Amino acid sequence: MSALSGARVVVTGGAGTVGSHIVDAAIGAGAREVVALDALVRGVPTNLAPALKTGRARLVEIDIRDREAVHANLAGTDVVFHQAALRWTRCQEAPRECQEVMVDGTFNVLEAAADAKVSRVVLASSAVVYGEPRRLPIDEDHPLEGTTVYGAAKAANEQLARAFGQLRGLHTTALRYFNVYGPRMDIRSNYVEVLVRWLDRIDAGEPLVIYGDGSASADFVHVADVARANLLACADGAPDAIVNVCTGVETRMQRLAELLLRLTGSSVGIERQPQPAGGLPARRFGDPRRAEELLGFRARTSLEEGLRTLIAWRRGQLAAVDQRAEAAP
Ligand SMILES: NC(=O)c1ccc[n+]([C@@H]2O[C@H](COP(=O)([O-])OP(=O)(O)OC[C@H]3O[C@@H](n4cnc5c(N)ncnc54)[C@H](O)[C@@H]3O)[C@@H](O)[C@H]2O)c1
Repeated sequence: MSALSGARVVVTGGAGTVGSHIVDAAIGAGAREVVALDALVRGVPTNLAPALKTGRARLVEIDIRDREAVHANLAGTDVVFHQAALRWTRCQEAPRECQEVMVDGTFNVLEAAADAKVSRVVLASSAVVYGEPRRLPIDEDHPLEGTTVYGAAKAANEQLARAFGQLRGLHTTALRYFNVYGPRMDIRSNYVEVLVRWLDRIDAGEPLVIYGDGSASADFVHVADVARANLLACADGAPDAIVNVCTGVETRMQRLAELLLRLTGSSVGIERQPQPAGGLPARRFGDPRRAEELLGFRARTSLEEGLRTLIAWRRGQLAAVDQRAEAAP
């Protein structure tokens, strides 16, 4: 039987990309009640539509900076998945807001979880904590040399989680996600990821822009795999740990662009532009072995399969927007 069977589960940031997939997965694993806490600064309620239909999920609009609201909503909870966060670009623009949401807000979640005696908190951390890699693949013992405010907040979250383990006996797992992609990614705001930017350019008939020689790389992990890693992290007997959630597969930007062109049947081609001053052609991909050893997690979705899910979902979203525009008086 799943550790979530019959459980009350809270997912902070539950209306977001990863959070809403965790909500679906927790319902699939037999949770009795799944509460998505979200301030809706980036997530959208439609991400929760399938979960809400089951009658076992709820969306509660609160800000994790609100200590009392967090405490009230965590009472009686068995497992917490803490996903609420600001995007890294927002953290650079507004470092104090980052501190308040991501550090103080996480403190509220950990404190309320300890008070509620939850069996585990699984926290979303990020590969950004590593900074420019000194070695590849990036394993969990790689030094933490991040230089962003967002990365500093994530590193602080991991340390706070450990401290609550020592102080209050709280069981926690921090998952360092690499580049998450898939359905329910943000396709609307000014800050979309490269994949979405490129799909927009394909639709506009414009070439995909690659900076430098295209050798920069990333480790793209599908959101369904990320949700599954979260569930494995709270299985009975899972240890307190900090682990990478990655595929271990290095994807160069050149390959990503070629794959997108092929999967969309586009002929817009690729345009090369010089690397912007100060921008390094970074290569990065993670070492997935600790996640496999400790959690039994291995990413299953190939990049090609995963991109197909993103392309199909995005098409559906854009078609729905067009239909609404046509129907408007
Ligand atoms: N997407 C990635 O590639 C990636 C990589 C590494 C780590 N992460 C981390 O994974 C987690 C989930 O990321 P995502 O891609 O689903 O992001 P997302 O923006 O889709 O989801 C985050 C959610 O948190 C909510 N939120 C923001 N501030 C809040 C506040 N003060 N109170 C309550 N809710 C608030 C947002 O409305 C949003 O729905 C985040 O913690 C993120 O930092 C993501």
